Amino acid sequence: MPIRHILQTTGGLMLLCAVASGAQAADKVVLLQGGSIGTAQVAAGAEAYLDNCAGCHGEDLRSVNSNAPDLRGPTFQYSWVTKPLEETFHKIITTMPPGMTGEIDPETYAQIVAYILNFNGVEAQEDGRFPQTAEEVAPMDLVIQ
Ligand code: HEC
Repeated sequence: MPIRHILQTTGGLMLLCAVASGAQAADKVVLLQGGSIGTAQVAAGAEAYLDNCAGCHGEDLRSVNSNAPDLRGPTFQYSWVTKPLEETFHKIITTMPPGMTGEIDPETYAQIVAYILNFNGVEAQEDGRFPQTAEEVAPMDLVIQ
């Protein structure tokens, strides 16, 4: 079998697995205290996430790069919930995607983070708004119930 076919088959299988195990609703309730995310932000963030982050962190927030962490599940709970949200937000806007931070504007970062939070169970509000600066994120807290 030509190597190209083997690669195609493997890719197809991986895609199938990704779909099969795909985006289930988060089973824990995650609350964002002291802040909110907007429904329009989440929708825009889904697009922007695919464009800018999915290449390493995966379309369904399950990492596809051995160095990049998942952005869902236990990794989310450990990495986002146990740390101040401001710290994670600051890290994203100053280091992600590696070497290309200049290409994303502040509102797009806010949308992407709103999308990641929503994916992990934070409810979006029609009039909600996730902010653009670490200072505004500082009073916010993620809590798992
Ligand atoms: C080219 C691959 C790549 C892309 C694209 C990328 N990341 Fe990452 N990301 C990484 C790697 C590697 C790490 C682990 C090393 C680190 O923490 O700096 C990481 C770590 C992270 C972390 C964990 C931070 C922590 O300390 O808990 C978050 C959150 C994150 N990325 C979000 C994003 C977001 C949001 C985007 C899109 C705007 C993005 N990344 C795009 C490779 C990538």
